[in-house]
Amino acid sequence: MELHAVLMGRVPVGCVPMSVDEAKLRGRWEALVAEIEAHNRRYYIDASPIISDRAYDALFRELQELEDAHPALRSQESPTQRVGGLPVDALSKFTHPTPMLSLQNSYDEQDIRDFDERVKRQLDLSADHSVRYLVEPKLDGMAMELIYEGGVLAVGVTRGDGLVGENVTPNVRTIRNLPLRLVPDSTGEQVSSTAGSGSQASLFAPTPGPQTKASSAALPTRVAIRGEVVMPQDSFQKLNERRVSEGLEPYVNARNSTSGTVRNLDSRIAAAAPLRFYAHSAGVCEGRSFERHSDFLAFADAMGFQVPAGITACDGIDEVIAALAAIEDRRASYPYDIDGAVVKIDDHDLQARLGFVSRSPRWSMAYKYAAEQATTRLLAIDVQVGRTGVLTPVARLEPVFVGGVVVSNATLHNRDELERKDIRAGDLVVVQRAGDVIPQVVRPLVEKRTGTEVTFVFPDQCPECRAPVVEVEDEVALRCANEVDCPAQTRARVAHFASRKALDIEGLGVKLVAQLVEEGLVRSIADLYSLDGQRTALLALERMAETSVDNLLAGIEASRSAPIHRLLFGLGIRFVGETVAKRLCGHFGSWEALASATQEELEEAEEVGPIVADSLRTWFADERNQQLITAMSDGGVQFPDEARPEALPAHPFLGKSVVVTGTLSSMGRSEAKAAIEARGGKSPGSVSKKTDYLVAGENAGSKLEKARKLGLNVLSEDDFLQLLG
Ligand code: IVH
Repeated sequence: MELHAVLMGRVPVGCVPMSVDEAKLRGRWEALVAEIEAHNRRYYIDASPIISDRAYDALFRELQELEDAHPALRSQESPTQRVGGLPVDALSKFTHPTPMLSLQNSYDEQDIRDFDERVKRQLDLSADHSVRYLVEPKLDGMAMELIYEGGVLAVGVTRGDGLVGENVTPNVRTIRNLPLRLVPDSTGEQVSSTAGSGSQASLFAPTPGPQTKASSAALPTRVAIRGEVVMPQDSFQKLNERRVSEGLEPYVNARNSTSGTVRNLDSRIAAAAPLRFYAHSAGVCEGRSFERHSDFLAFADAMGFQVPAGITACDGIDEVIAALAAIEDRRASYPYDIDGAVVKIDDHDLQARLGFVSRSPRWSMAYKYAAEQATTRLLAIDVQVGRTGVLTPVARLEPVFVGGVVVSNATLHNRDELERKDIRAGDLVVVQRAGDVIPQVVRPLVEKRTGTEVTFVFPDQCPECRAPVVEVEDEVALRCANEVDCPAQTRARVAHFASRKALDIEGLGVKLVAQLVEEGLVRSIADLYSLDGQRTALLALERMAETSVDNLLAGIEASRSAPIHRLLFGLGIRFVGETVAKRLCGHFGSWEALASATQEELEEAEEVGPIVADSLRTWFADERNQQLITAMSDGGVQFPDEARPEALPAHPFLGKSVVVTGTLSSMGRSEAKAAIEARGGKSPGSVSKKTDYLVAGENAGSKLEKARKLGLNVLSEDDFLQLLG
């Protein structure tokens, strides 16, 4: 028997004749792995290390040397694998063994009481029955599924669309506070998870201290542990400070940088990042069952996972409401962002009896805390011109710390919003930031005005090119009418064209685009394709040298043979997002077929509704756009036929009915509908049992009431924007 096969665990060790030396080596390896992982746990989870960094490093080095000398010993579960490996070309897709669902949201006490009543009605329990719930903090991170086979971490997969995610295993292995193999922690105290006889017992201690331990009986043969990957706020701040000092753009928030890191093709980047994993639910579980969710959490804790602090067992809804408030009170003391709490029925039988509605369990409810707010001074109001010419007022703020980040700019959305809120330059304003959403100015503190504040007059000329500003029917937005050569629009269009999801042109970032436009080297996307002849002019630009010019030109050259769906998306046609572009190109197969398609033909493509089709028709009919395509083609862009439709990321709105009601502050009704259509949904005018989501803007009335009665998924504007991505 080969030593290699034995060491890789492919053969049961007991039946293999192993030489004394081999057994010794393997024994030492096992002992080192167990010891190092135990120290990892003490350091990263319990925050009470018992050896010095130096002693730890010595153990680690010994393990590394042992594996270097006997490579057959090295396996995926070794702590040496936490340092990352060679970069990969792309992330592969992975189908979740069971779908990862989402939670219904609630926003106030009444929603929670309604939830409890619904639960009791559906379970045929009397109104005065106390259901046992768990209340957990809701971590604002990146959802992750970790699949352990035979007790060893086999796969780490992102949530994706809930059915299929991305395989990020090498990156996940670098997360220090998760076990690479499930090892029951026998040092832990055995505490019953029902401790406290139901009166708001906190199941897991908030800080290091006695943790609940489950019996370590029966390791499941295959188990999926689900939870959130987060980056603690202090680490996030430090990371951003370092980026700024290196002349890089700071990340917008901890969640974005977490997901960027977890999805990075180079796992060494993840290894260097301060990522942490917190377990909160189970997916597939074979060879072991749990009576209650609290039993599962105790099991996860005992197996070496960290669970969020502050999980509370509650008898009845009054205790739930108190627990929700308690977590909200401690919100700021959590080391990572939390955006609410999650209420779950503890008993698995009751969960199974309740089942699911659309993509959410009936036995659980997320409770979203109000966005964090802060007060600061609004220094000035600027107007930004986007790639389609839309003018967006932006508040320049005295920097203020809110919702985990320093905010110095906030969107004011549009003129209507600005006027409705009567926000003036010089005002003290309330700023809020929730989750991933762009910071917003909530209201001015009118009572603090001194009389020196200045009402903003929306310009009737474009601040960049002085062209007239026009109102478009049925849209809230105002636009700069100069589509052709407004430098702001050109900059935004070219930057979008070069961006990662479009043509992904290496070396062509926002700053370089601005220079190219400023110097008159680029007046349209097509001009990128004549830059080959402009070496001298390029070399004369700031921060450009031979190598950077070579890189830029190589990036542009590569984009000449890019697939047409990237080109279509990159052209920035209204309502044509990444998904729609892929569908269209897959459907029509060639640029010519797409460009000459009629409105009806366009609507035949999946995910294309009348608004999207009309936008495309108008774009292709415009002579200037035809000239642009000709010029690109003259510059060597190939517009190759699309052989096969790409596998598309399914969107939660795909095939769903999404009704919009009330006033949205960020877009008009028809824009919202187009955005839904663009993601493959339908947006009818009225609510029925068939409605999948109701998007409720401000002053939503009877439709919202009806949706609540029907128990439909109700989305706030923020939720909607997040889902739109
Ligand atoms: S339980 C059926 N518990 O919030 C869904 N989720 O929309 C089971 N989340 O996708 C999820 N903290 O990624 C659960 N304590 C917690 C959570 C939590 C954060 C995330 C999760 C889920 C989303 C809900």
